[in-house]
Amino acid sequence: MTGAAVVQRCEELARFSEDPDRITRRFLSPPMRDVHRVLGEWMKRLGMQLRVDPAGNLRGMYAGRDPSAARLLIGSHVDTVPNAGAYDGVLGVVLGIALIEALAKRRLRFGIEIVAFSEEEGVRFGVPFIGSRALVSTLNNHLLSACDADGVTVAEAIRRFGLDPARVSEAIVDRRHVFGYLEFHIEQGPVLESLNLELGVVTAIAGQNRIGVTFRGAANHAGTTPMHLRRDALAAAAQWISMVERESRASTGLVATVGWIDAKPGVGNVIAGEVHTSLDVRHASDAERHAAVAKMLTQAEAIGKERGIAVKVERRLDQAAISCDEKLVKRLERAVSSAGFEIHRMVSGAGHDAMVLAEHLPVAMLFLRSPNGVSHHPDETVREEDVDAALQVGMNFLSLLETQGG
Ligand code: HGY
Ligand code: MN
Ligand code: MN
Repeated sequence: MTGAAVVQRCEELARFSEDPDRITRRFLSPPMRDVHRVLGEWMKRLGMQLRVDPAGNLRGMYAGRDPSAARLLIGSHVDTVPNAGAYDGVLGVVLGIALIEALAKRRLRFGIEIVAFSEEEGVRFGVPFIGSRALVSTLNNHLLSACDADGVTVAEAIRRFGLDPARVSEAIVDRRHVFGYLEFHIEQGPVLESLNLELGVVTAIAGQNRIGVTFRGAANHAGTTPMHLRRDALAAAAQWISMVERESRASTGLVATVGWIDAKPGVGNVIAGEVHTSLDVRHASDAERHAAVAKMLTQAEAIGKERGIAVKVERRLDQAAISCDEKLVKRLERAVSSAGFEIHRMVSGAGHDAMVLAEHLPVAMLFLRSPNGVSHHPDETVREEDVDAALQVGMNFLSLLETQGG
């Protein structure tokens, strides 16, 4: 299969969306059935055994010659952010299937399992990585009881999709039967393009916190309430958000984002009584990230105190930074250089399913250039020649694993 065919398949899957005129696919939403159907057709044609595990991950097994040999996982997520591009996540699954196709029915010593993770973005429940957590048995009851905006729990969403949340343990991979995980992913940033490079070898993934911060003041009349008598939750949140940005600009390697705000009652002639926000903080160093989070939350409290506003913090994710497996990284680097491409090692600022699996399995990631550095946006794209490059590297990687082991 060519890079152009892989791109075409990603665009075919992009048609499956919750929204008519843009790409939005949340955890176990109806379009996920179409994605499973089409991915399933492509994998069935290759003689792969399919299943949807109780966490909604679509899994395709391509057996190896030696049934007792540990297998390789290749995958990524098939959920998206709202108004997404067509490649974040999906490309890693389609590329994995393309590698199986390129084997042309040849069986390697080890098996390959393709995994299309059901949820990585954290859009529906505010907590990411539901799909990959199920593989490493951290999809616990606390997470299963998380609610979406309509009050539907993760467990109920699983039931409504026709699966049984009581059986999520069936999704767990036995570490003795899997020797590693490979994820192809778009870089989602400007680095490779700025260096005019097709591919990047990921050495580490920055850790991240996702926190809900609520400011509770007093709603009141916008026309009759003097400024000095107000407890304006939106003004407090605005002061805090600009402080978050100032803090991040001043700290090397730190990124912090308040990407979502919901002011209530949310009308122009009423002072906001209650404001909900999301805080996303990332850094390659966990210590730096934790220090930055502590400082930002202390400052939210201080602003609240100064303004007579109550501040509530809901910690939703504290995901440690991870290092990719040095042995797999070296194999991947050899695969890159033997395909004739420059090796560029890099840290991922974006989170990935690989970071969840890394706590239990050796992982490696290969980045493809993101033209214009754009992602989480309909202008997200990928170059066909870079996908061709990734396919060549992927085949070299499999050959190295075949001859030298995982
Ligand atoms: O938000 C992220 O880091 C990734 O795109 N899920
Ligand atoms: Mn992604
Ligand atoms: Mn993403």
